[in-house]
Amino acid sequence: MKKIIVANWKMNPSNLSQASELFSSVEKFLKNNSKILKHKEVVICPPFVFIPQLCLQQKTRNLIKIGAQNCFWEEIGPFTGEISPKMLKDFKLEYIILGHSERRLILKEDDQMINKKLQAVLNLKMKPILCVGEKKEDRQKGRTFEVLKKQLTEGLKQISTTFQKSKIFIAYEPVWAIGSGNPCQPVQAKEVLFFLKKFLNSKFSLKFYFLYGGSVNSDNAQNYIKVGFDGLLVGGASLNKEEFLKILQ
Ligand code: PGA
Repeated sequence: MKKIIVANWKMNPSNLSQASELFSSVEKFLKNNSKILKHKEVVICPPFVFIPQLCLQQKTRNLIKIGAQNCFWEEIGPFTGEISPKMLKDFKLEYIILGHSERRLILKEDDQMINKKLQAVLNLKMKPILCVGEKKEDRQKGRTFEVLKKQLTEGLKQISTTFQKSKIFIAYEPVWAIGSGNPCQPVQAKEVLFFLKKFLNSKFSLKFYFLYGGSVNSDNAQNYIKVGFDGLLVGGASLNKEEFLKILQ
C-alpha cells in the first residue's frame, strides 16, 4: 500500500488565486517527479469554496487527489451552511477528514455527530479520515489511551458489519502537538500506533490505515513512517510550498 500524505489546508489561504497557485506548484512538482507517486498518494484538502476551481484546473486526477476537511451527515435538505458528502462525491472526491480536533473543540462536534458523518461517508463508498487525539492534560494524567478508546468506540459505532470492504483511515493527532511546533516524539507516537492497532483489531474485522498528524515538517516526516504509520496529515507545513515538496520527497 502506498504511503498517503494528506495536506489539511484548514481555513487557508485567503483567496482563490493563492490556492490555485499553491495547488499548481504541487501538481507541477509531482508531474516532474512522478516516481514519488509509485510509493505515495498525495491528497490536498482545501476549503470547500476552492474545490470546484481546483477540480476544474486539475489536468489529471493521477497526481493529486482532492479531499474535504469536513461534511454533514445528511444527503440533502434544510441544513443551512452544511455540505453533504454526496455533493463532494459529485466532484469525484474520495477522502474526507472527520472529527478534526479544531472542529471538536471550537465547533463542539461530538463523537455521535462524527459517527453519523462517518457512516454517511462510508455509505457513499468514500474514504473517511477519522481524527483522534488526546489533549495535553489527558496525556499528563495518563489518560491518553482512555480518551482514544472513547473516541474510537463512539466514532466507529455500528460500522463493523455494514462496511466490511471499506477503507478507513485513522489519524492520530495529539491535540497538544497540532500547530504547536512541538510534535509528538516518534517513539511516543509508535506506542499509540501499537495501542490503536491492538484495540481496533480486537473490536473490528476491518482494515484500518494509520496516519500521524501534529507539527509534521520536512525534518520529522520520515520518522513517523519509519515507526510504522501509513501516512501523514500535514497542516501548517502543507501551506509552505518548499516545505511541503520536501515532505513529499
Ligand atoms: P499542523 O496541523 O501540521 O499544523 O500541526 C495538523 C492538523 O491539524 O491536521
